[in-house]
Amino acid sequence: MTRASAPGKFILFGEHAVVYGQPAIAFPLHQLRAAAQINVIPDAPHGCVRIHAPDIDYQTWLHEADEEDPLRKIVQLTLEEIRAQSFPAFEMQVSSEIPVSSGLGSGAAVSTAIVRALSQHFEHPLELERQSELVYEVEKIHHGTPSGIDNTVIVYNRPIFYIRGCQPEYLEISGELTFILADTNLPSNTGMIVGNVRKAWEQDRPTFDTLFREIGQVTERAKSAIAAGDVKSIGMLMDENQELLEQLGVSSETISVLLATARDHGAYGAKLSGAGVGGIIITLVQTSASTRIVNALHDAGAIWTGVTKV
Ligand code: MEV
Repeated sequence: MTRASAPGKFILFGEHAVVYGQPAIAFPLHQLRAAAQINVIPDAPHGCVRIHAPDIDYQTWLHEADEEDPLRKIVQLTLEEIRAQSFPAFEMQVSSEIPVSSGLGSGAAVSTAIVRALSQHFEHPLELERQSELVYEVEKIHHGTPSGIDNTVIVYNRPIFYIRGCQPEYLEISGELTFILADTNLPSNTGMIVGNVRKAWEQDRPTFDTLFREIGQVTERAKSAIAAGDVKSIGMLMDENQELLEQLGVSSETISVLLATARDHGAYGAKLSGAGVGGIIITLVQTSASTRIVNALHDAGAIWTGVTKV
C-alpha cells in the first residue's frame, strides 16, 4: 500500500488578473487535504488499473473511463512520465476533504496526490516542477486557460507570489496572519466564470486590461505589506482587490453579504477568493476576534468556515 496527500489552496490576491499575466498571491491550505492510495490487486491481469473514489461512489477500470476524465488523465500522464509499462494491477483510491467548486483547489490537490502516490509506488522521484506541469495538463480539462497558480501552490506547498509562466517566488511573511475562510454555499464554476471574463475582455479590452493591471498593482503592494507584517494595509488592499473583482463582474450578492458581515464585525479586510460568484470568501482578522467573526459568518449563511494562520 502506498499513500500520498496534497493540501488545498486559497488565493489571497490577484485571481483572474493572473490569467492575463498579472501577479497573484496564494497559500496552501493544510487543514483540508486530498489523498491517493495505491493497493495492489493480486488477482487482476498485469497492467490493469482501477480508479476508485468511494466519496462519490465512483469505480472504473482506467481504460473504460471517459478519455476526458481528469482521474484517468492524471494517472495515464504520470504512468507515461515514469515509464511504467508492465506492473502488477493496482487500485488507485482517491478521497478528498476539500469541497469541490469552492475555490479551494480540490481538482489540483487530487491530481497532485495521485502523481505523488504513483511516483512513490514506482520509486521514481519527480521534480516539483515536473509534478506541477503534469497537474497543469489536467487543470486544462477543468478550464481552458488556467494560469497555473493552483497546481503551483499545491505542488510547491508554500505561500507563493506567482506570475504565469514563471518560477514561483516564495513569499516573505512577517508575523502571523489569521484568516477565516467561509463557504457561501453557492458553487463557483471556474471554467464558466473564467470563460465569461474572457468574453467580456474580448468585447472591451481597454477597460479589462486596466482592471487587470490595477489588480496586479494591488498584489504588488500586498506583497510588500505581507513582508512588513502590516495587517491594516493587507486588509485595505483586500478590500481594494474586491472592488476591482466586482468591476470584473465576478462577485455576487451572496458574497457581498458575507464580506459586509466580516467587516461589520471588525475584520481588517475581506474579499472573494478563487473564481468567485460563489465559492469561498476570505477575511483577515485579529486572532482574538476570530470566534466572534466565525459565528457571525455562520449566522449570515456560511455553510463552512475554517480559521487558518500563516
Ligand atoms: C482559480 O483558482 C483562479 C483563477 O484566477 C483562474 C486561474 O488562475 O487559472 C480564477
